[in-house]
Amino acid sequence: MNTFDTHTTILSNEKVAEDHFLLRCECSKIAQYAQPGQFIHVLISNGAGLLLRRPFTIYTVDGHQITMLYQIIGEGTQRLSEMPKGTSLHVLGPLGNTFDIENTPQPAILVGGGAGIASLMLLAVALRTRDIHTIGLVGAQNQGRLLSVDDLKAIGVAVHIATDDGSVGHHGFVTDILTDMLNKDSLNLPTIYACGPHAMLAAVSKITTEFEVPTQVAMENRMGCAMGVCLGCVCPVRIDANRIEYQRVCTEGPVFNAKDIAWEI
Ligand SMILES: Cc1cc2nc3c(=O)[nH]c(=O)nc-3n(C[C@H](O)[C@H](O)[C@H](O)COP(=O)(O)OP(=O)(O)OC[C@H]3O[C@@H](n4cnc5c(N)ncnc54)[C@H](O)[C@@H]3O)c2cc1C
Ligand code: FES
Repeated sequence: MNTFDTHTTILSNEKVAEDHFLLRCECSKIAQYAQPGQFIHVLISNGAGLLLRRPFTIYTVDGHQITMLYQIIGEGTQRLSEMPKGTSLHVLGPLGNTFDIENTPQPAILVGGGAGIASLMLLAVALRTRDIHTIGLVGAQNQGRLLSVDDLKAIGVAVHIATDDGSVGHHGFVTDILTDMLNKDSLNLPTIYACGPHAMLAAVSKITTEFEVPTQVAMENRMGCAMGVCLGCVCPVRIDANRIEYQRVCTEGPVFNAKDIAWEI
């Protein structure tokens, strides 16, 4: 397994939107093997150590460097945002499975809610490298919290924006734009890739099941070990009509077929 437990140094850690930061560090081994959808498990031990690591998707890979784009949620991410350039960081990764982009229908539609768009950036790069027409639906609470629009446009993704308060783009949810697009007969059968809050993913799944569109979702359940041991991250997966099995987001995931998740549980 190409997973590494390594020390790195923060090269930069900049605020990029309200409550959101972009952290860059040098991690040549992780950079070498990172695949779209995979994540790193970060030990945040500024002062009194937090016992559990925190998981973050690898946002970009740039030579020997990787970045992660994160939202301040609680104590761990608050502390992380206060770590200056030069701080030593302990990271484990790359972890988890990856998005499947081989033999999937085109175009690709990426649906990102809030910091969920961070999990779709490496995927966008992989799709555009293969010259696959890629549409990005980016949702945020407001303009100040909007993420990744310029990064996506820079690699040729056609971006559509939705904000809860209507401060920019469509006034409403990204799922409204998704429904409109799928209703258009002119669109070939696409593949949907989504990441964001659980309620948004459940809504995406409901819509795409109705339209019979293949959909992959990256789940962001809370994690403990991220090594498949503690079972702290499980989500309910439908094995057949009568059977549900709990699978580990850290090892069987984080990417699942949306139709397999038992969203109602
Ligand atoms: C595979 C994976 C990839 C992720 N990638 C990213 C990423 O690229 N960018 C990013 O900003 N975040 C990402 N996350 C979420 C991120 O790990 C959490 O926001 C972070 O661990 C919160 O840590 P904290 O110490 O700040 O908050 P905590 O103090 O641990 O929690 C604060 C509050 O938020 C709730 N909470 C914490 N984590 C989650 C969660 N995952 N889902 C729902 N509620 C939660 C807690 O219940 C608590 O109420 C990812 C999660 C997973 C599992
Ligand atoms: S976080 Fe421990 S099994 Fe997934």
